[in-house]
Amino acid sequence: MVRFQHVMQEVTANLAMGIGPVRNWRLRRGRTIRYSPTQHAEEFLKQFQFCIDYIGWDWIQGKTVLEIGPGDVIPHGLMFLGAGAQRYIGADRFLGDVSSDTARQLYAALVTQAPQRVQQGLRGLGRNLSDYPWVGEDGGADSLVLPLRLGMEALKREHIGGVDLIFSYGVVANFSDTGQAFRNMAALLNPGGKMVHRVDYGPIGGFRQYKNPLTMLTVPQPLWQLMGSNRGYNNRYRHSQTLQVLEQAGFQNETKVLYRHPPEFIEAIRPQLVSPFRELDDDDLRISMVDIVSQKV
Ligand SMILES: C[S@@+](CC[C@H](N)C(=O)[O-])C[C@H]1O[C@@H](n2cnc3c(N)ncnc32)[C@H](O)[C@@H]1O
Repeated sequence: MVRFQHVMQEVTANLAMGIGPVRNWRLRRGRTIRYSPTQHAEEFLKQFQFCIDYIGWDWIQGKTVLEIGPGDVIPHGLMFLGAGAQRYIGADRFLGDVSSDTARQLYAALVTQAPQRVQQGLRGLGRNLSDYPWVGEDGGADSLVLPLRLGMEALKREHIGGVDLIFSYGVVANFSDTGQAFRNMAALLNPGGKMVHRVDYGPIGGFRQYKNPLTMLTVPQPLWQLMGSNRGYNNRYRHSQTLQVLEQAGFQNETKVLYRHPPEFIEAIRPQLVSPFRELDDDDLRISMVDIVSQKV
C-alpha cells in the first residue's frame, strides 16, 4: 500500500518542478552526479563497455552517436570519440551543466581511467582534453560534441541530422511519450544504424522504500500523472509494452533479461495492481532490467 505522506511529497515536488525558476534552480544543483569523480568514471566506463560489447570496436569507426538522457555530464562523448566515432550528440530533457567544475573533474578522471585505445584515439583528435566538452569551439549543429536540452519526444532530424548509433542507459522508463520517442529514433537512424538501450523497470525514488518493488504499479494513472508529469517521472511501461511500441515504430529487437523479481512479489501485489498492469502476465511483471538491441526492419 502506498503511504499517504509519500504521495503528498511526490505531488508537491511535481507541482514545484512545474514552476520555471524552481526547475532552473533544481537543474543547476545537479541530479545525476552523486559520487566522487573516480567512482563515477568507473560507472561510465562500465556503461560504455556494455554498449561496445553489443556493437564492437570496429563498427563504431566514423559513426555518429546519439546518447539519450546523459543527465548532468557527457563523458560518453569522450569515450565514443576516443573509440573512433566521428561525432557525439547528448540530448536530455533536463540536461545539467555539462561544463561545470564537477563535470570537468569527472572528464579528467575518465581520461586517465579509459582503455589505452580510447586514450590514444583522444590524443589523435588534436584537441585540448582539459577543455572538453569543447562547447562553443565550433558551436552549432555540426560540432564534434553537441549537448542538447531537448527530450527525445521533440528531437528531429532538422536538429542534428541522421545518426548511426542511439544509446541510452536508464532512460527509456522515463519517456513521457514512449511511442513518439521511438518513432523519432526511427526517423533519426541512418540505414544500417543500431540502438542499444539498458532499461530499468525497477522502482524509482521513494518507491524503493517499499518491500515490494512493484508497489508503484498500484497507483491509479491520474494520480501517477499528478505525482510526476513535470519531472520525467517513470512511465511504468513493462517490457511487453516497450517491445510493442518498438515494433510499431519499425524496429526489430533482441532482448537480454538481466534481472527478474522473485515470483512471490507478483503473487503478493497482484490483487492491488491497477489497469493495465493487472492484465499483464507474471513473466512480464517479473522482468526488472533488460538490454535491448534494435535495428530498423
Ligand atoms: C536515471 S537518469 C540516467 C542518467 C544517465 N544516463 C546515467 O546513467 O547516469 C535518466 C535521465 O533521463 C533524462 N530523461 C528523462 N526523460 C527524457 C526524455 N524524454 N528525453 C531525453 N532524456 C530524458 C533525465 O533528465 C535524466 O537525466
